[in-house]
Amino acid sequence: MYPRLLSAVLAFVALATVYSIHSVTSRDPTSLFFNPRTAYAPAYSTIRKEQAEAFITTTANSTDYINAKKNETKKKLCVGIPSIAREGVRYLRDSVGSLLAGLTPEERSEIHFVVFIPHSDPTIHPAYTEDWLPNLTNELLVYDLPEDQLNHVKQMEEEGGLYLEKGIFDYNYVVKACHKQEIPYIAIFEDDIVAMDGWYHRTLAAITEAETLSALKKESPDFLYLRLFYTEEFLGWNSESWGTYLMYSSVAFAILVSLFAYLRAKTPSTKWILTNRASLAWSSLCVTLIALYFALGRATVLPLPAGVNYMPQFGCCAQGFVFPRNKAIELVRYLEERRVGFVDVLTEEYADKNDELRWAITPSVIQHVGRKSSKVDDFGPQSKHGLSVAETIWNFAFEKYSSEQLRREHRGVAQRKKKDS
Ligand SMILES: *[C@@H]1O[C@H](CO)[C@@H](O)[C@H](O)[C@H]1NC(C)=O
Ligand SMILES: *[C@@H]1O[C@H](CO)[C@@H](O)[C@H](O)[C@H]1NC(C)=O
Ligand SMILES: *[C@@H]1O[C@H](CO)[C@@H](O)[C@H](O)[C@H]1NC(C)=O
Repeated sequence: MYPRLLSAVLAFVALATVYSIHSVTSRDPTSLFFNPRTAYAPAYSTIRKEQAEAFITTTANSTDYINAKKNETKKKLCVGIPSIAREGVRYLRDSVGSLLAGLTPEERSEIHFVVFIPHSDPTIHPAYTEDWLPNLTNELLVYDLPEDQLNHVKQMEEEGGLYLEKGIFDYNYVVKACHKQEIPYIAIFEDDIVAMDGWYHRTLAAITEAETLSALKKESPDFLYLRLFYTEEFLGWNSESWGTYLMYSSVAFAILVSLFAYLRAKTPSTKWILTNRASLAWSSLCVTLIALYFALGRATVLPLPAGVNYMPQFGCCAQGFVFPRNKAIELVRYLEERRVGFVDVLTEEYADKNDELRWAITPSVIQHVGRKSSKVDDFGPQSKHGLSVAETIWNFAFEKYSSEQLRREHRGVAQRKKKDS
């Protein structure tokens, strides 16, 4: 009776453990047990899109809102979003709606919100002629250029393809528009993202933390950027570090084997432990455990702590960055000099050359929801799991947010702020 109960309990515990490990690792792209079908399924981002849509329908016609956003309080962040029209899909409404939904009036008044329509003929963009967009934003930016430069833009539009030159031109254009505003920080987002409820207060807190961490690292609060999005995919075990992994594995192995040897010496009475077979079994078990540790995935066994983390490499891609105002303009100068390329690649290049600090907020406060790129071939050689390249630019942790918890956190922060002021 008794041993049966015990084995039932043990079996249950084992099953529960396997189940919970599985539910974590199946969403960890660095794990052997990664399951793309569950991991790429949107959860929180779906809820957030609904909140964004509800916000737009109830607020875009509100004169109170339209007046409040003009409030001349001291601005803390300039938000810039360049948005190109894509065939058959529209993302801008979700991005703008989710960035604004849930902000307190005070928070909203601290943001200067710019949407940039980088088309020589902006009416090509479906959102341009809809009035929710100017109603909700502070500035709806279009090209304001002398004739010869506008002709150059038209030429770049005709070239099409990867828009290696136009992409940079447009990025610089919107950064400069923000730079004019004399606001200390500039956030640039791609137009196919969804932001969590509370992204703004978390970002402000992270900026302060990044300044402190920068000061500790380099004796100056300057940093190049704070990353608001990354995909965990490239933060797994990397082959360059094999030496380190081997060393730690050997240490772990040595400890486990010594433990066995110690037990053997201390308990001469148990006969089974003295056999060679037992030593072999024990060693194999140790090796299996170490292999399992790696197989579980780095994001499972060594996740990045919540808050601001140093991320000088492997943080893909350019969905959302916050730059201090002066750094943003230094970067623009570099991009202008390089003229062609991908913004994210050149930003990293600039940082490497100038030994600039790069921070990332964990978990990411925005998700990339674009399923169709505005530029590249969606099913090129880099696509996998039967998904487009754009679909695999995904933050897995974002989908685990609970909208209820975030709402409470946001309300708490707003109340504390009110009390302090
Ligand atoms: C704004 O639109 C919402 C939803 O369509 C409606 O319920 C509300 O009455 C409108 N408000 C104004 C001031 O027109
Ligand atoms: C935008 O604001 C105007 C009033 O300023 C209002 O008449 C219009 O309905 C609003 N648009 C939308 C889509 O709510
Ligand atoms: C502007 O912001 C201040 C402080 O947040 C607030 O007291 C005031 O009512 C706001 N004005 C408008 C027109 O919303």
